[in-house]
Amino acid sequence: MKSFAIPTTSTLPGNDYEFRMLCEKEMGQLLDFRNLVLSSLSNADHYVKEQDEAVFVHKHLGPEGFTIGVYSNDELVAYAMLGLPPADETNELADRVDIPVGHRHLIAHVAGCMVHPAHRGRQLQKLLLAKRIEGARAQGKRYCISMASLSNHASRRNLLASGFHIARVTIMEAALKRQLLLLDMVEQPVFDLSSARMAAAEDYATQQVLTQQGFRGIGEERDAATRAAPQLVFAKQRKAGP
Ligand SMILES: CC(C)(COP(=O)(O)OP(=O)(O)OC[C@H]1O[C@@H](n2cnc3c(N)ncnc32)[C@H](O)[C@@H]1OP(=O)(O)O)[C@@H](O)C(=O)NCCC(=O)NCCS
Repeated sequence: MKSFAIPTTSTLPGNDYEFRMLCEKEMGQLLDFRNLVLSSLSNADHYVKEQDEAVFVHKHLGPEGFTIGVYSNDELVAYAMLGLPPADETNELADRVDIPVGHRHLIAHVAGCMVHPAHRGRQLQKLLLAKRIEGARAQGKRYCISMASLSNHASRRNLLASGFHIARVTIMEAALKRQLLLLDMVEQPVFDLSSARMAAAEDYATQQVLTQQGFRGIGEERDAATRAAPQLVFAKQRKAGP
């Protein structure tokens, strides 16, 4: 894996976070932290435990991925993973968002991110997303793919704000309803706003039909004061041509 720089101290206001690239020796720490977050989710659908937690974590400690850890007073308070799947591996996510088979070596998976409940709302996920996109670019990747629960408004908001769009709304392994989000760092699609349709953030059926009809989720409208579930904006890609 090619190396890339991560900030050693945080630029976030009022905090002294330290960012470290994690390795095998932090495996136990990561597993404990995942257990802590998984056992305190406000909604169990936000993050579903992997079939084999150890295999999943191990895979993201290189060479098929990396994990950035965030420390406060030497304690792990957040982490984020990027998967770098081998081009010859079956890639269900890539199939579902229609990435051509010849481009399989250009894909990174924006995988798990968890922030300790006491450190949420301080833009850590946003920053860790930016660092992972930077990392994917540094590895020569073109596409980032991610997956979100329809009720995970924080994750989806950060992904949309970082240039991802909802490419598909579908049922994944273990009957999970998921939005699949895609970022193409070479050819950013342009959307035709005159085609815009709205769908409630948790309305699976409407979103599934819209994505099947060629609409993509490109933004959201929310009432920041009430924190009610947002409405998502779907639009069709503008056709290329004169
Ligand atoms: C999801 C999670 C990683 C977010 O981390 P975080 O560091 O608090 O996120 P950030 O501070 O970067 O951003 C949160 C954004 O979501 C928004 N948000 C938070 N809760 C929201 C809600 N209920 N509805 C709408 N927006 C919401 C915030 O306003 C913020 O956006 P803004 O900065 O544009 O205002 C964290 O809550 C977590 O660890 N959850 C449990 C595990 C999980 O769900 N992981 C994600 C799946 S990969």
